Amino acid sequence: MIRSEILATGMHVPANLVKNDDLSSMMDTSDEWIRQRTGIEQRYWADATTSTSDLAVEACKKALSNAKVDKSEIDMIIAATLTPDHEFPGLACFVQKKLGIPGVPALDIRQQCTGFIYSMSIADQFIRSGTYKKILIVGAEIHSKGLDKTTVGRDVTVLFGDGAGAVVLAAKDVADPKKDSHILSTHIHADGTFAEELWVEGPGSGVGADRVDFEKLKEGYHYPKMNGKAVFVHAVKRMPEVLQEALTANNLKPEDIDLFVFHQANLRINDMVAKQFNIPEEKVFNTIQKYANTTAATIPIGLDEAVRSGKLKKGMLVASAAFGSGFTWASAIYRY
Ligand code: UT7
Repeated sequence: MIRSEILATGMHVPANLVKNDDLSSMMDTSDEWIRQRTGIEQRYWADATTSTSDLAVEACKKALSNAKVDKSEIDMIIAATLTPDHEFPGLACFVQKKLGIPGVPALDIRQQCTGFIYSMSIADQFIRSGTYKKILIVGAEIHSKGLDKTTVGRDVTVLFGDGAGAVVLAAKDVADPKKDSHILSTHIHADGTFAEELWVEGPGSGVGADRVDFEKLKEGYHYPKMNGKAVFVHAVKRMPEVLQEALTANNLKPEDIDLFVFHQANLRINDMVAKQFNIPEEKVFNTIQKYANTTAATIPIGLDEAVRSGKLKKGMLVASAAFGSGFTWASAIYRY
């Protein structure tokens, strides 16, 4: 049976390290508050000359090199982001231009924190159907250029970091599902009822006669706004639910999973999910301490770090779950 295998991963973050104490000099916050509420210790923020596609391309190049795949073999590019270089065209087109692989389809996924799992799900369908053989997926964000760095925006601003993570997916004829690397299943959901609980209002066609409303700009309608408590409550309900959905679909128990690579929004959310499933601490791979929330990039960054640190080895069974703006939530189980 033809399934999708993750051949390799790659990641890239900008050079500029921003510690929690650095934020205290910009706004009324503290290292203690940020660590206690979120687990975040630091993040990387890009400089003025770097765009999201720059980070994405570096991650893609590493993934291609680690996979020993030449860019000419790629049949499709999928880029997940909420912080594209420009309003249009999408991030995937700029990644394609910089990688130099014209002609193949380039698709953007706008599913925020679940963007990477949505991308995996879409890529998996194209590979299972026999349409494509190799697909490059990248999740990339530059949040730092769109955050309110005053005390007004502190509830959101301290949470986010910049970065990119990529994987190369390839068609694989799976003979032994218990041994061969492949994606077992993906599960994707959304409920737009809560679209405005975590969003950037404008610029956009939903704000009046003009996409850019200069009065609203002054009020900061271009900064992310979040009902943090509502997001938290829904996250700790939906992540376990969608993880259970994936386990049930594959007739697996939590103890059958070798490593959990969850979305990184808040260490407390992941601890609560792990507790519900009695997952031992050493089986949950968190990176939020180092990179904060890089939205669509958290899971591929986590996979790449896990591979490089020796925590994730070929043949291991991995489960991922994510929740975020939309609201959207998703999960995947795959043998790396
Ligand atoms: O990946 C996208 C999805 N996002 C998430 O999953 C985020 C989900 N939500 C959360 O992680 C948490 O709700 C937060 C970390 C955002 C906030 O934690 P909390 O424990 O819910 O704090 P809170 O919003 O109840 O705020 C507590 C206090 C407030 O002060 P008062 O009203 O008690 O005086 C806030 O004004 O903390 C204050 N506060 C801050 N203080 C210092 C809010 N942000 C900050 C800050 N530094 N950065």
